[in-house]
Amino acid sequence: MKMISDIDEVLTTTRTVRKRLDFSRKVPVEVIEECLLMAQQASVGSNKEDWKFVVVTDSELKKQLATLYQQVWDETVAIPLSKGEAATVERLAPSVRKSEEEQNRQKRILDGVKYLVDNLENVPAILFACSSAPVPRNAMGGGASGYYGSIFPFVWSFQLALRSRGLGSVLATAIAHKAEEVAELLLLPDGCKVITMVPFGYTKGIEFSKGARQPISTIFRWDRWDTQ
Ligand SMILES: Cc1cc2nc3c(=O)[nH]c(=O)nc-3n(C[C@H](O)[C@H](O)[C@H](O)COP(=O)(O)O)c2cc1C
Repeated sequence: MKMISDIDEVLTTTRTVRKRLDFSRKVPVEVIEECLLMAQQASVGSNKEDWKFVVVTDSELKKQLATLYQQVWDETVAIPLSKGEAATVERLAPSVRKSEEEQNRQKRILDGVKYLVDNLENVPAILFACSSAPVPRNAMGGGASGYYGSIFPFVWSFQLALRSRGLGSVLATAIAHKAEEVAELLLLPDGCKVITMVPFGYTKGIEFSKGARQPISTIFRWDRWDTQ
């Protein structure tokens, strides 16, 4: 059942939800299927549906995935930060953010990310978005844009469809650090790669506000990027 039908409200309040996921409430299969059908209307490169999706609700499987996700946290966040590794500090450490407000926000986000790591097995359901398209040879360029760009419109539509029904979600790409291990657990066909996961469930309350963003003038220009 739709709870928020105003599209602008859905677009502006689909937040990343971690701590407000209600672990005690099961998500009915029909709701998940409805959101998948909505998302399947998203645009896809070359009009080739080289995408595969798996929704995990099985407790044992969630436990195994949670163990992998904990390893991702340790290997890509906790250990590099504790060693002061430059690239990770620059990307994630609150201390390198410019203002006190940004530092506090980054602290809150890291705290939320860790909460998800510690609680993944309790999340009611997790969508895995995968691609069976040929893996692009270069990290940049049309091939790469088409490869990843054929997955995220589906994922974002899925998140919007969840939100309009009173559910919340997290786009958690970090799981792709263990893409091969996850593919094995999910019995994905050969050549099918895990791009991201989206843990989701009903939210505790449905009130969410707009996110903090830079003024639009800092990220947008008409016609050309001049630096006034
Ligand atoms: C490409 C991308 C990757 C992300 N990966 C993760 C992730 O691995 N784990 C996580 O907890 N959140 C992840 N997020 C969520 C961001 O941390 C989130 O957008 C941020 O906390 C801001 O919250 P908001 O979306 O509610 O404004 C990701 C978001 C994007 C767009």
